[in-house]
Amino acid sequence: MENLVNPKTLEYLYKGKRVFITGHTGFKGSWLSEWLLLLGATVKGYALPPATHPNHYTILDLSGKMDSVMADIRDKSRLEEALLEFQPDYIFHLAAQPLVRRSYAIPAETFDVNVTGTANLLESLIKLPKKCAVIVVTTDKVYENLEQDVLYKETDQLGGFDPYSTSKACTELVVQSFRRAFFSPETYALHGKTIGAARAGNVIGGGDYSEDRLVPDIIRALEKNEVLKLRYPNSIRPWQHVLEPLGGYLLWAGKLYEEGTDYSGAINFGPIASDHLTVSQVVDTAIRILGKGSWQHDDAVSKPHESGILKLDIQKAQQVLKWNPKWNATQAIQQTLEWYATDPLQQANITRSQILNYMQP
Ligand SMILES: NC(=O)c1ccc[n+]([C@@H]2O[C@H](COP(=O)([O-])OP(=O)(O)OC[C@H]3O[C@@H](n4cnc5c(N)ncnc54)[C@H](O)[C@@H]3O)[C@@H](O)[C@H]2O)c1
Repeated sequence: MENLVNPKTLEYLYKGKRVFITGHTGFKGSWLSEWLLLLGATVKGYALPPATHPNHYTILDLSGKMDSVMADIRDKSRLEEALLEFQPDYIFHLAAQPLVRRSYAIPAETFDVNVTGTANLLESLIKLPKKCAVIVVTTDKVYENLEQDVLYKETDQLGGFDPYSTSKACTELVVQSFRRAFFSPETYALHGKTIGAARAGNVIGGGDYSEDRLVPDIIRALEKNEVLKLRYPNSIRPWQHVLEPLGGYLLWAGKLYEEGTDYSGAINFGPIASDHLTVSQVVDTAIRILGKGSWQHDDAVSKPHESGILKLDIQKAQQVLKWNPKWNATQAIQQTLEWYATDPLQQANITRSQILNYMQP
């Protein structure tokens, strides 16, 4: 299937460009930073210091390869100073409190970081005196979940149950407000700003060490020779390798930069329909590939609500961006396990080789 995520297209879009990434110390942000550096972009990041040890940011030695500001997204003046000083052509906004379970422990802080943090970024953008394309990364969880076997489309109602999901739905309203109030398509010739809200599914890949995420939990259980406990083995999610949505963000931002506001709005990034798998299917595939490991249903732990079924319709990304998933779920799991099985001294190399392989047409 046609896919414009290839070296020729991406180098044309990013070589020599200035790219500002919030959340560059995190899982997705570190992959995106490395990818953009490989494409020849000048990259600056803004985020808190890495929250885990080890972490992909340090493994990749990103502090030595890009300008990095370690500060809070809620510090508006610091953020504005960092952004305006850099004068970016592109912005990818990934900084967030991204964990559903943690959002039950710190609900107000989750709203503050995710919603006010986005407003701070977009307010700073008003003062940027040049053309700039912005991707605000939200999530597949922004939809009002009907707990039915449907594929959510970009036009479906926003909602959310847990504070994380709702905070990201609010983030989308903030984006819409700034788009209408400050960056209107009618006045594009004056301001030059376009903003897209990217809704991606559950991503997996090397270098994720977060709490409460499936792949890090699998790796931790295997290292300790423990039986993996699954809270929701039957929950269905749109699983993908991290490079899939990142490739979509790169392509979309490029289109916004080159072609202007017609392509702003929201776009889903997820797998093909048959790769919407249950948590236990993902774990069983990992166990089969590894030839070891086991899991059991953990019904003893108190469990805050999480949706049971979540599937995405990706036709808009396919049609508008000529973006298509390249790796199926099994390949994504294989690539991920291969990364964690690699000698720590070689993990930066495997990140780079996976990016280069992924880009091949
Ligand atoms: N990982 C997934 O499966 C997934 C799925 C859909 C959407 N997302 C979204 O993608 C983005 C990145 O997620 P991730 O998986 O890389 O998470 P992560 O936890 O690995 O990274 C989060 C990043 O945000 C930064 N950050 C957090 N609070 C901050 C604050 N107050 N000020 C400044 N920076 C702050 C962290 O320093 C880090 O760089 C998030 O917006 C998340 O909601 C992730």
